[in-house]
Amino acid sequence: MNILKKFYQNTRRPEGIGGRVMLSMMNAGHNANAIWGLSQIEIAPEDEILDIGCGGGRNIAHLLRRAPAGRVYGVDYSPESVEKSKRVNKAEIIRGRADVKQASVSSLPFEDGKFDIATAFETIYFWPDLLHDFMEVRRVIKEGGIFFICNEASRPEGNEKWTKMIDLSIYTKEDLSRILLKAGFRSISCHEHPNGKWLCVAARKPNAAEGNCRPCSKKHIHRIE
Ligand SMILES: C[S@@+](CC[C@H](N)C(=O)[O-])C[C@H]1O[C@@H](n2cnc3c(N)ncnc32)[C@H](O)[C@@H]1O
Repeated sequence: MNILKKFYQNTRRPEGIGGRVMLSMMNAGHNANAIWGLSQIEIAPEDEILDIGCGGGRNIAHLLRRAPAGRVYGVDYSPESVEKSKRVNKAEIIRGRADVKQASVSSLPFEDGKFDIATAFETIYFWPDLLHDFMEVRRVIKEGGIFFICNEASRPEGNEKWTKMIDLSIYTKEDLSRILLKAGFRSISCHEHPNGKWLCVAARKPNAAEGNCRPCSKKHIHRIE
């Protein structure tokens, strides 16, 4: 494997010195996309939030600011990511408002129905079995809660260099909507950035009795765009 390819594998699972460098690069380089994505969802001050594939932990910090009376957990299967996320959010971990665990999305170490919101920024490209993993995310979300996905890449075309270099899967809004529906989510709303590349998708775990829709607070079922 050439040296550049080896370095970029750290986006999939940060490891060692290269992983630590990549985590700092991702905290800086993904920030504009994350801020745009976060502007698309409603977060209540007391929400319990899970950030999956939390990487360098910058989005945990953003989420803690958006939920000042809530708690934010991060999970990542890379020990390097967990360590960096803990360092970045040390003060809030000490205050008991944040926690970071090493775990795969395929087997989340949380009880059913714990979270109001689960987020996944720039990570689903690497998940091993999207349908199974979305169902596992759905398990840990409360009824009426939201799963929020935010990606910088939303089309395989034009991204061939990266799919080869990093060995990742890029999903369109149609792919994601179909798999989310199959995994039992409803009220799926897709938002595309005017740059034509960035995509975020919010999906709701249905209530036993249908109620307000968290992505937009209106009483209706979203159309899949
Ligand atoms: C490209 S980084 C994105 C990190 C961060 N969310 C961000 O936006 O900067 C992808 C992260 O997802 C993690 N990841 C990939 N597959 C995972 C899985 N199956 N379970 C848990 N974490 C995973 C990687 O270890 C890495 O830290």
